[in-house]
Amino acid sequence: MCFLINFPTNHLTKDTTHRILLKGHPLNFHKKLKNYKSTVLHNLRGLASKWNLCAIHVKDESTRFGLGSFKPLGVSYAVHKLNKIVNLKETLCAATDGNHGIGLSWISQVFNKKCVIYVPRHTTKSRTKFITNLGSKVIKLEKNYDQTCEHALQTSKKMDWQLVQDVSFKGYEKIPAYIMSGYQTHMHEIGEQIECKELPFFDVVFLQCGVGSWAASCIWYYLEKYGSKRPKIILVEPRESAGVYESFKSKKRTNPKGSLKTIAQSLNCGKPSLSAWGIIQSGCDGCIKVDDADIIAAKNIYLNSKGNDPKIFSGASGAVGLAGLLKCLNDKKFGNMKKHIGLGPNSKVLLFNTEGTLFDNL
Ligand SMILES: Cc1ncc(COP(=O)(O)O)c(C=O)c1O
Repeated sequence: MCFLINFPTNHLTKDTTHRILLKGHPLNFHKKLKNYKSTVLHNLRGLASKWNLCAIHVKDESTRFGLGSFKPLGVSYAVHKLNKIVNLKETLCAATDGNHGIGLSWISQVFNKKCVIYVPRHTTKSRTKFITNLGSKVIKLEKNYDQTCEHALQTSKKMDWQLVQDVSFKGYEKIPAYIMSGYQTHMHEIGEQIECKELPFFDVVFLQCGVGSWAASCIWYYLEKYGSKRPKIILVEPRESAGVYESFKSKKRTNPKGSLKTIAQSLNCGKPSLSAWGIIQSGCDGCIKVDDADIIAAKNIYLNSKGNDPKIFSGASGAVGLAGLLKCLNDKKFGNMKKHIGLGPNSKVLLFNTEGTLFDNL
């Protein structure tokens, strides 16, 4: 249910991923895109007071580029970087269970390229429809997420398409590193909104995981900026797709044990990404598994705001970080975790609403 990590190294290996992340200036790139606007960092004073915490802030990615999630940040930056170093192929391709494909379809249009998106069997109609409306060809496979990624890889090789995948594996590390670099735009925005130079504003950060690339990029940001003074970082996954949790337990990158069927559509992934796993091990303090019921409770808390707090419209995956915080606060079995991260009246907590409710209305 929860796993405490006692001795994160708090330093990063200087591999390709590290160097790409270090050199990235994604915020400068994103600021030049049409529709760019920094997303809001909500201060939920009412909720923090109710739960006896010092502060709860939520970076709300539901409005990002009008595309419903933070994901387009990563893939748009990767395509921009690729375009600078190679001749972009005529067709771009990826496997996705939703948001990554939305991002690639959108940026393919910006760069005037064709786009083919493969989705696994469990991807909902609303998501495939959204991707199709962005001009991509969407092909649904009778496969799970990992098998769909493999299919996209093999077909791209055969057809001479450019694979732009957010999961890294041996020999495919550069593009996922550009994607992780692109995600950092919202960390830089938070830097402008609230963080200080010497010490982090936040004490505890909850990050939801699919393949772990996004969480790794946030961890990298905090390690690079604050080293061992970084906030405590907790990763949260749906119980049925908890690849990071299982990897920590078995001390090697491994597949989730569950069914991969949860309401958190965007997190129903397989094995953690290779380079993400390296970074996660360096700077994370624990992992939490949550159930669909916890995620629904978290969505409702965002919606039924306290006092003068704003209402936050969150999709299931968007609410998973809050579901993790709820577990720590309310479930006695998480007492050790609470102690481990020092969660209490002095804690300033950062959460991300990584996706909104765009698909609920399609
Ligand atoms: C809304 C949302 N939140 C979180 C994540 C997790 O990102 P990652 O797969 O890099 O762990 C995703 C990934 O697609 C997502 O779409």
